[in-house]
Amino acid sequence: MEFYLKNLSVYHGKKRVINNVSTYFETGKITMIIGPNGSGKSTILKALSGLVDFYGKVSLPDGYNDIAEITGYVFQNPETQIIGSTVWEDVIFGLENIGLSKEEMDKRGNYVLGLLELSNLRDFDPYYLSGGQKQRLAIASILALEPEFLLLDEVTAMLDKNGKREVLNAIVRLKEMGKGVILATHELDLFLPVVDRCIYISGGNIVFDGEPIDGVNMYRQMVVSEL
Ligand SMILES: Nc1ncnc2c1ncn2[C@@H]1O[C@H](COP(=O)(O)OP(=O)(O)OP(=O)(O)O)[C@@H](O)[C@H]1O
Ligand SMILES: [Mg+2]
Repeated sequence: MEFYLKNLSVYHGKKRVINNVSTYFETGKITMIIGPNGSGKSTILKALSGLVDFYGKVSLPDGYNDIAEITGYVFQNPETQIIGSTVWEDVIFGLENIGLSKEEMDKRGNYVLGLLELSNLRDFDPYYLSGGQKQRLAIASILALEPEFLLLDEVTAMLDKNGKREVLNAIVRLKEMGKGVILATHELDLFLPVVDRCIYISGGNIVFDGEPIDGVNMYRQMVVSEL
């Protein structure tokens, strides 16, 4: 599955923070969005999830009317989206909201907890989970809603080495199951080995789109030349 953006612009007040961006995204690929603080990475992800309004045209696959139907956004800080008093409750919360049958909720809940290696923590209070476990729970809860694309905003930034590794493995598994992953990050070395494509944005414009190693090198040269 693919979708296309044509002249996507986002304003915060009168300020345009994304400038006529045109690109596409496809499932089965991990795309990394890099760029300096304030360049617009989170804003693009939020526009793609329907969390912020945008101008421009989005071409969706047949049968879809709204970009939010095919995307799910995961926040940097998992605390912002954990609501259940157990891991299980948290995972099925969003499913109850869309009115699924108990059988369907059980099926999806068990599946995503297995996939994110959280099955043994099912009855655990999310408050006491490690950072990596919390972040995997946040991803599991969004994944249960079955989006085609996961939008991951700095999801490893608050984690230690083990937590980063756990979440990185989970992201690779998402790709292997055919999901599209679009992630914003400053952790270039962590993600470089697993991503398929790199989009580098600066000042709300795409300045590079292509091979991850080339994008990362270009970004690093830019950062050094600006010091
Ligand atoms: N809610 C908001 N109201 C006003 N301006 C905002 C808002 N959110 C973001 N901005 C502005 O939009 C621009 C892009 O911000 P954004 O958060 O998308 O950057 P980013 O690339 O994700 O940065 P970082 O690497 O720090 O996460 C910045 O100039 C920022 O100040
Ligand atoms: Mg950001």
